[in-house]
Amino acid sequence: MKIILLGPPGAGKGTQAQVVSRHLSVPQISTGDMLREAVACGSALGRQLQTTLDSGALVPDPLMLSIIQERIDNDDCRNGFLLDGFPRTRTQAEGLAELGITIDWVIELQVDSAVLIRRLSGRRVHPGSGRTYHIEHNPPKREGLDDLTGEPLVQRADDRVETVSHRLAVYNSETAPLVAFYVQRAGEAGAQGLRLLRLDGAQSPQQVTSEILSALANGRKS
Ligand code: AP5
Repeated sequence: MKIILLGPPGAGKGTQAQVVSRHLSVPQISTGDMLREAVACGSALGRQLQTTLDSGALVPDPLMLSIIQERIDNDDCRNGFLLDGFPRTRTQAEGLAELGITIDWVIELQVDSAVLIRRLSGRRVHPGSGRTYHIEHNPPKREGLDDLTGEPLVQRADDRVETVSHRLAVYNSETAPLVAFYVQRAGEAGAQGLRLLRLDGAQSPQQVTSEILSALANGRKS
């Protein structure tokens, strides 16, 4: 099964992608995690990317398309994958379609801006695994430490309040229009089988997961 998870920063894409991809036995492809790994390597490209990521701007489309093409060519994607954070622009969505990849589901998580800002300011991340916590909704067992490894958790540089508002603006102008793009594609003969699911992402993480899995199992649209 090939799935795209759409939603603004903090909507819960990463949280849901970890559980759903495990359930379906397909890889989670998080472009944000891949870019942060490139930054952590300290290469020349990584240093350029760091400035873009920290500012909340988007990485250029041609680079993102080549990263995704290379990743999807891997053997572990043969039976499907879950895209978390890609596509983010119309050019990326069209580029993905041009690769001849048939997407089965586009799942949109809808959450109000005020909730998103609270979620992102309270988010803490384990850099080694990408596991995320929230200081109120999903705290680690020991404050500031990852549950599995005991290693320190960090706050992402782009989770600062001033950067978050820029990320939300970029989402609204560049990525939100993709919902209409996929609604249109779902109605076209060339994208037979594409289904759209639009969910209230403000519910508990468990409830969101349960609605996603039930829709995937029953083929339900909304
Ligand atoms: P990326 O890492 O993809 O960031 P994002 O889209 O802004 O999404 P986030 O990771 O912030 O949020 P999320 O929806 O995954 O929420 P999460 O589950 O963590 O991208 C980072 C940057 O990389 C971009 O700004 C850009 O520069 C670049 N980039 C990446 N992809 C690109 C592309 N395709 N093209 C160009 N540039 C690209 O949850 C957030 C918090 O809320 C957590 O604390 C979590 O515990 C909590 N939470 C989650 N669900 C719930 C819930 N239901 N109830 C309560 N709390 C919840």
